[in-house]
Amino acid sequence: MVHALSSFVDEMARVFEAEGRADGAALAVVLKTLPQDLWLQGSDCGADSAIRDLLGTSAMPVAQAALEAHDVLGWAPETYASRTPDLAALSPYVVADLLGPEQAFRCDHLRAGLYYQKPNTRYGLHSHAAEETYVIIAGAATWTAGERQRLLLPGDYVHHTTYLPHACETGPEGVVALWRWSGEIGKESYRVHDGQGAFAA
Ligand SMILES: [Fe+2]
Repeated sequence: MVHALSSFVDEMARVFEAEGRADGAALAVVLKTLPQDLWLQGSDCGADSAIRDLLGTSAMPVAQAALEAHDVLGWAPETYASRTPDLAALSPYVVADLLGPEQAFRCDHLRAGLYYQKPNTRYGLHSHAAEETYVIIAGAATWTAGERQRLLLPGDYVHHTTYLPHACETGPEGVVALWRWSGEIGKESYRVHDGQGAFAA
């Protein structure tokens, strides 16, 4: 692994160790034991300069590490949107899927990566079988998790139990977060709850 990617993975492991959940600790163990000969293909995700600028505003070590490793984190438009350039431009977010059954960092029982949501956008209510934790590392977002809504800032964690509906709305700065999935990590259970509202600004 190139040094910048290795440093980022180490910082990411620290963040999930600090989460205080067994599945976060399990992810940290996997991250710490990744093969050293892997690296990820850099790509133009359409929001690279915005992500860099936002990471630069954060005091978190993991954000600094993500900035330094940006070109090898594999940031890309969300998978289905990327098949159609027009949809990719409309999508409120881009992702860097680091670890999972189909990823370069192969893991059959966990998924993890980075998430960037553009300024002044809403990713509407959705849910899935997997348990999920997001950790804000730069910017801010108004987060809905079930009945609860709150403003999340760098260093804040939010956990979604199985099938808990959740949504994310950004202000003028957008948001960068780490995320992880555990439990039933198949994507087939994913569903959007409010249709067109999922991509409404
Ligand atoms: Fe989710």
